[in-house]
Amino acid sequence: MSRRKHKYGPLSNLEITQFAAEGKCIARLDEQVVFIPFTAPGDIIDAQVTRKKKNYLEARATHFHQRSDLRIEPKCAHFSVCGGCKWQHISYEEQLIQKEKQVINQLDKIGKVTPKKLLPIIGAPSEFEYRNKVELSFCHEGWIEDVTDKSVLKEPALGFHVPGRFDKVLNVEHCHLVNQSVNDIIQYVGKFTKEQEIEHYNIRMHTGILRNLIVRTSSLGGLMVILVITEKTALIDQLLQNLDEKFSEISSLNFVINTKKNDTIFDLDVVRYSGDELLYDQIGDLKYKVRPKSFFQTNSTQVFHLYEAALKLAQFNPSDVVYDLYTGTGSIALFMAKSVQKVVGIEILPQAIDDARENAKENGIDNCTFFVGDMKKAFTNELIAQEGKPDVIMVDPPRNGMDKEVIETLLTALPRQIIYISCNPATQARDLALLSESYEVELSQAVDMFPQTHHIENIVSLQLKR
Ligand SMILES: C[S@@+](CC[C@H](N)C(=O)[O-])C[C@H]1O[C@@H](n2cnc3c(N)ncnc32)[C@H](O)[C@@H]1O
Repeated sequence: MSRRKHKYGPLSNLEITQFAAEGKCIARLDEQVVFIPFTAPGDIIDAQVTRKKKNYLEARATHFHQRSDLRIEPKCAHFSVCGGCKWQHISYEEQLIQKEKQVINQLDKIGKVTPKKLLPIIGAPSEFEYRNKVELSFCHEGWIEDVTDKSVLKEPALGFHVPGRFDKVLNVEHCHLVNQSVNDIIQYVGKFTKEQEIEHYNIRMHTGILRNLIVRTSSLGGLMVILVITEKTALIDQLLQNLDEKFSEISSLNFVINTKKNDTIFDLDVVRYSGDELLYDQIGDLKYKVRPKSFFQTNSTQVFHLYEAALKLAQFNPSDVVYDLYTGTGSIALFMAKSVQKVVGIEILPQAIDDARENAKENGIDNCTFFVGDMKKAFTNELIAQEGKPDVIMVDPPRNGMDKEVIETLLTALPRQIIYISCNPATQARDLALLSESYEVELSQAVDMFPQTHHIENIVSLQLKR
């Protein structure tokens, strides 16, 4: 095992003083800020610098002289190597306090906006086992220790990518964000493929057979497995047959042949080995079809609370025409359809719009119209002239927020209210600043969809200035 010393020396007796963005904490070294993951205010540590930037350092804790009172014992054996749960070492109550603070801070610092009213953060009903989808990678050579050590496990792995490393996979024994049945399947596949010496993928050389394992569950009880491979050998057949026989909870068993250099399966055929072609899930009263490649919110229980909170802030009239920008599979659009006259949903992925139309039909909803397109080209004054002037617009963009062309169209469409749902309060704050010439930020409400991680969803209600 090779251990390389980092070119920047070790830092001693650093005191962690506060939480920062991206799940990291801050210590100060003279005038310099040091960002350190997996620590908590009150920790006193030695650390190794992992990155030096002009205005700050990044480091990893190597030794704890004193441990913060905020600390609790992380549940997961992979904590601090796996990048998934950066906050398992602090209580859920404290996570919620910090998430709420970060939202307020970003709205203030980046957007220079102070909402007239802040509604309390909505915590998730389950702190663990809330994810309905997990995607793991096979790798010919796994990692065992922390990233600074370059510690390679000289045997194949099935698990998650080490943060920032496309070619390094941490072997995962148990993920606490998914349920026991999913973990049993992961363990079985990991064990069988190693024992049978089925070649795991070499990400640099693009060789090997086993690439990815995707497992999806539904709140209505279904379980879908998708095994991604480069070829279907006799041993792969045996693995699929064993899964089918041993796990009665699998309702849909599939494989995908991927011989491309990238991991995406969106452009590939999913082949059904056994069971159903899809899962059904539910949000409130609505049923959704979830196909192997469909997008569906990963915390299906908490997404109900997110949509309910957004709907409450929206104060719809039955005669309202509502636009749902970045509609995905139309799940919010369908959720609010019965409260308004008409919903117009727009989304870039054609397959998501196919699902949205199918889900509308499935639920007997006929007042939603869906369009495919890049928002900056599809959401235009011409479309508004054709579909009707919006009374309320719901936006739920990806992490990088809205393009400036979309904001310009919002500022000419001038709906009475905009409800802005965001998974990245920093870009949300930037967009709010741009909308502030015509809108006031009335209310802000954070909703936690992802306990144990630093991620937070925030809903803001904007009212047209009189
Ligand atoms: C945060 S998701 C919102 C999904 C949906 N509102 C829901 O609750 O399930 C953002 C959506 O924006 C879509 N998207 C990303 N970039 C886009 C663009 N430039 N134009 C239109 N849609 C885009 C993504 O495909 C994704 O479905």
